[in-house]
Amino acid sequence: MNQPPNRRILLIDDTPSIHEDFRKILTPVQEQTPELDDMEMALFGDAVKPRAQAFELDSAYGGREGLELIEKAMAQKLPYALAFVDMRMPQGWDGAQTIEELWKVDPQLQVVVCTAYSDYSWEELLFRLQAHDRLLILKKPFDNIEVQQMANTLTAKWEMARRASLQTSQLERLVEQRTQALTQASQALQLEIDERKQLESQLVQSEKLASLGQLAAGVAHEINNPVGFISSNLGTLDSYFKQLQQMLDAYRQAEELIASGESLEQLKTLRTGMDLEFLKEDVPILIRESKEGIGRVVQIVKDLKDFSRVDNDQSWQWANLQQGIDSTLNIVASELKYKADVIKQYQALPEIECLASQINQVVMNLIINAAQAMGPERGTITISNGVEGKNVWLEVADNGCGIAPQSLQKIFDPFFTTKPVGEGTGLGLSLSYGIVKKHHGNISVSSELGKGTIFRVVLPIRQTAV
Ligand SMILES: Nc1ncnc2c1ncn2[C@@H]1O[C@H](COP(=O)(O)OP(=O)(O)O)[C@@H](O)[C@H]1O
Ligand SMILES: [Mg+2]
Repeated sequence: MNQPPNRRILLIDDTPSIHEDFRKILTPVQEQTPELDDMEMALFGDAVKPRAQAFELDSAYGGREGLELIEKAMAQKLPYALAFVDMRMPQGWDGAQTIEELWKVDPQLQVVVCTAYSDYSWEELLFRLQAHDRLLILKKPFDNIEVQQMANTLTAKWEMARRASLQTSQLERLVEQRTQALTQASQALQLEIDERKQLESQLVQSEKLASLGQLAAGVAHEINNPVGFISSNLGTLDSYFKQLQQMLDAYRQAEELIASGESLEQLKTLRTGMDLEFLKEDVPILIRESKEGIGRVVQIVKDLKDFSRVDNDQSWQWANLQQGIDSTLNIVASELKYKADVIKQYQALPEIECLASQINQVVMNLIINAAQAMGPERGTITISNGVEGKNVWLEVADNGCGIAPQSLQKIFDPFFTTKPVGEGTGLGLSLSYGIVKKHHGNISVSSELGKGTIFRVVLPIRQTAV
């Protein structure tokens, strides 16, 4: 902004004497009067009277030569503020064409047309040049003071235009910067909102888990006792009944011998009335079924306990995820045998800091779910894993039934199941979710109904002190 004012002027005229005239007017030789200057300094100090600033005048004797000078000036970033252009130049371009060409290269250039007579009417000329605000007309013969004042005011005008455009572009830049900052801020805000939403839903999920965990711990504890004695009583009952049966058989055989007449009849009616033969067969079946039922309750209580982490005396250790997967696969081999082929796509993994048996449990849940998702046709379960920065990831993909969109948000909810009673408790995934969160990891799912499902678990290699 603080450049010295631009006093550069170009004169384009084919008459050499005109150039001399202009030079005298615009660049007069300053008289050297050192004595006078000294006296002036002594009298007035530094506040010497201002001298008109000198112009820098360049000459061209034809339109093309003028254009070349303008081009050179532009290339050197030293533009002219003003050009005086003769209208009538019989050789080459006339004034109008010259001005057109000059403005193509330097649209900011102020121009004065100098003329005694013209081949155009003024209207024609102004219409042709379409730039009434940068063009003045100087009629020959001209007055010195006219030329001088035109030079003064037009160079000043050029200067003002330059400042204005600088300010405008600075303003534009500022607006641009502000807009950018605003856009960034709004993006950051959106990110924060998204993050918050995600955190909120995670919070809801873990709240649910926590409250359910407490409930489950209580219930499991309460149920454990009665389940314990029912189960042991059933065992005892079973063996008592076997003994009773032997006893009954013995009585049956002795029936004819010990009783006579009336009481024998009584015994027979009783026996057939209660269908003793059927009872003898059915009681063991009832006992067996009850034992199975109790077994199932025990399993549920165990799941609940795992879920509420009651028996949580595990310690953190460094373990190999692949070994975990393989041993889990061994355990569930019989479940998988008739349902699916397993494809392993392993990459070398570092050991991770984890509660190994809990991680195994996650893997087991995912694999069993995948197997249970298969229809009558044999399917494929693909287990893959890898490293990603400071995490390892594990994916269990199946080509089973897939998950309906409306179920997708609920699958991690405790007790959400689409499986028949006895097959699903709806605890597997919520349990897994809790375990993965405890490891500061993440579990996610993508699924297409009828095509299959992919579960992805991401676990940090190292548990930083959180
Ligand atoms: N691989 C899968 N394919 C299809 N559905 C699945 C899969 N894994 C989980 N689900 C759905 O999520 C529900 C909850 O799973 P989970 O918590 O393990 O409970 P459960 O298996 O006892 O039903 C399942 O009932 C099922 O609807
Ligand atoms: Mg399950």
